[in-house]
Amino acid sequence: MNYENIVIHIENNSATVTINRPSKLNALNVATISELHKAFKTLNKNKEVQVIILTGSGEKAFVAGADISEFAHFSVDEGTKLAAEGQEKLFDFIENLNKPVIAAINGFALGGGLELAMACHIRVASDNAKMGLPEASLGVIPGYGGTQRLPQLIGKGRAMEMIMTAGMITADEAYRTGLVNHVVPQTELLEFCNGIAQKIVKNSPNAISKAIKSVNANFKEGKNGYKTEIKSFGKCFGTEDFKEGTTAFLEKRKAVFTGK
Ligand code: COA
Repeated sequence: MNYENIVIHIENNSATVTINRPSKLNALNVATISELHKAFKTLNKNKEVQVIILTGSGEKAFVAGADISEFAHFSVDEGTKLAAEGQEKLFDFIENLNKPVIAAINGFALGGGLELAMACHIRVASDNAKMGLPEASLGVIPGYGGTQRLPQLIGKGRAMEMIMTAGMITADEAYRTGLVNHVVPQTELLEFCNGIAQKIVKNSPNAISKAIKSVNANFKEGKNGYKTEIKSFGKCFGTEDFKEGTTAFLEKRKAVFTGK
């Protein structure tokens, strides 16, 4: 598939998706959101791919936010639709994917950019990265899940302060608050993320997708995470991956998982 705003590279069972609008600091316009949706949908079905790394092109930005020029003149209905469609097509879609998504935050992750990173399962920042939700300085609030995921990740009080001040935090501050799992030099960012990806691909894809579902259930209204876990745990016993994993352990060899 040909994309205008993103680039995909697949190697060693890991796909790297690069948002490629460097002249606009990789700002998320509607076309890019749509391409990302298609790409994640396709990669989710691709058996060769077990992990996805999401990053931005250039050295300056991961994603500097939703494309302000696109929504500056929107009405109430258009604004509501923008948030609803974006959440469904991209942010919730990534969070609920069967495969782990690692955000490699290579610079500014602001507004929709930070919201995109927060929808991913794991976040790693380069040491020059700056993160924030500046929406309140534009007269809006975060609309791609930021008011929900930021408190989940760093706690309500810190999230309130970040949203209300509309300020930016450094990669080190993000690490201290648990917003990112690691901070590494920019030149080592993708290699570091690939290292995490290669640890993940050794494990059962089936178990990993069930783990994502179970962890997410804790944050979904009307879901009981413990019950989701019990159901998913039980289902594992009917999979080839479970037979292979336990047999390999008992035979003192490395497991070779098929994801079945
Ligand atoms: N939407 C649309 N265009 C954006 C953008 C966004 N969110 N963020 C950056 N750009 C564009 C700029 O308009 C500029 O385009 P131009 O060269 O055609 O004028 C280009 O990207 C480079 O940005 P610039 O502002 O010149 O870079 P800078 O180094 O001076 O500042 C930032 C970098 C990130 C501090 C600044 O671009 C910024 O504040 N961006 C908006 C962040 C934001 O509010 N995001 C939340 C949106 S909801």
